[in-house]
Amino acid sequence: MKRRVLSLLLGTAMVSSMLVGCGGSGDAAATDSAATEDSAGAESSGEGGTIGLAMPTQSSERWINDADNMQKQLEAKGYKVEVQFAEDDVQQQVSQIENLIAKDVDCLVVAAVDSSALVNALAQAKEKEIPVIAYDRLLMDTDAVSYYATFDNKGVGTKIGEYIKEKKELDKAKEAGESYTIEFFMGSPDDNNALFLYNGIMEVLQPYLDDGTLVCKSGRTSFDDTCILRWSQETAQKNCEDILTANYANEDLDIACTAFDGFSYGVRSALEGAGYSIKNTDSKVWPMITGQDAELMATKNIIAGYQTMSIYKDTRLLAEKCVSMVDACLKGTEPEINDTEQYDNGKLVVPSYLCEPQAVDKDNYQELLVDSGYYTEDQLK
Ligand code: BGC
Repeated sequence: MKRRVLSLLLGTAMVSSMLVGCGGSGDAAATDSAATEDSAGAESSGEGGTIGLAMPTQSSERWINDADNMQKQLEAKGYKVEVQFAEDDVQQQVSQIENLIAKDVDCLVVAAVDSSALVNALAQAKEKEIPVIAYDRLLMDTDAVSYYATFDNKGVGTKIGEYIKEKKELDKAKEAGESYTIEFFMGSPDDNNALFLYNGIMEVLQPYLDDGTLVCKSGRTSFDDTCILRWSQETAQKNCEDILTANYANEDLDIACTAFDGFSYGVRSALEGAGYSIKNTDSKVWPMITGQDAELMATKNIIAGYQTMSIYKDTRLLAEKCVSMVDACLKGTEPEINDTEQYDNGKLVVPSYLCEPQAVDKDNYQELLVDSGYYTEDQLK
C-alpha cells in the first residue's frame, strides 16, 4: 500500500491525541515520508488504502446497516473496503481478523462478537502497525486499539429508564401508593456496552425498585441475573416464558424492560403465548415494552402497538465519526473525540466519540426516523 500521509503532518502539527491514538501507523507513515501525495479526491479507487471491517453478525439488522454506511462513506473517500461478518461466532471473527491482517489491510475497524476475545489477533495487527478502531463495542484488554466510535451506552440505558419513569408516571404512582410489575432483559455479558446500558437503566429505576413502586416478581434485577448471551432473541423469549409461567399467573406484567429490539420480538412471542394481546380484550393488558436500535421491524411494531419504544441510533452518524478516525490514522488528520474518560479497556482509556441516542415511540418516529431519511414511508407500510 502507498501511504499517502504528508510527512509534514507528522511533525509538531500532529495533535497529541493522534500520537496516542495511532502511534503504530504514525511510525509506519514516518518511515514512508517519500509518499507525499494526499489521497483526498481519490474516488473509490482504493488508493487511500484498504480498510478491513469486521462486523459481529448479520442476524440483527443494525450491523448490516452499519457495514453498509461505513462502506459507502469509506469508498466515497477513496478507500477500498473489505467487510466480514462473523455470525456471532468468536472463532470465526478471530480468523476473519487474522485474514485481514495477513492481507495487509491498512486499518481495521472492529465491532466485536466477544469484546475480550480478540487480544491475540489485535496484537498481530499492532505488530504490523495496522491501526485498529473499535466500532460501537469497546475492544477490551488490548493496547492495540487507537480510537473508539460508539453511542453513549450509559445514555441508552438512562433514556430507557427515563422513558419508563415518565410514561408510567412513577413519581405520581409512588405518591398514590401504586405499583407496576417489571421484568428485565439485558444485553450480552461479553459486550462491554451491555453493563453500561444496565447501569444507566438502574441509575433511573433502582430507587423505584427500592421503594416498591416497581415490583420485579421474578426477583431478577441484577445484571448477572438478567443478561442474555450474544443478545439472543430465542433466549429472551425462553426467559420471558419461564418468568411469566412462574410469576405472573395471577397478575399481569406491566413493563418488559428490554435492552434490544430483538429481545422485544422474543418477549412479544412469549406474551402472546401466555394469552396477552394488544387488543387487551381479555384480562391481560399488553405491557410497555422497550427496545434498542429502532430496527425496521421494531418501528413497525411500535406503530402497530406491539412495542412501546426503542432507542434510535443513527448509524449514518456513527459511520461518519468512525471514518474520521480512519482518516486520522491514515491521513494524519484529527478525529473528533468527545470522551477521554469513560472507556477504560483494562489497558488504556480509549479516546472515544459518543454519538447521542434518542428515545423513539409512536409520537416521534415520523420526525426522527422518516423526516431524517432513516426510513421511508414505504418501508414502514
Ligand atoms: C449495540 C446495540 C445492539 C446490540 C445487539 C450492542 O453492542 O450497541 O446497538 O442492539 O449490540 O446487536
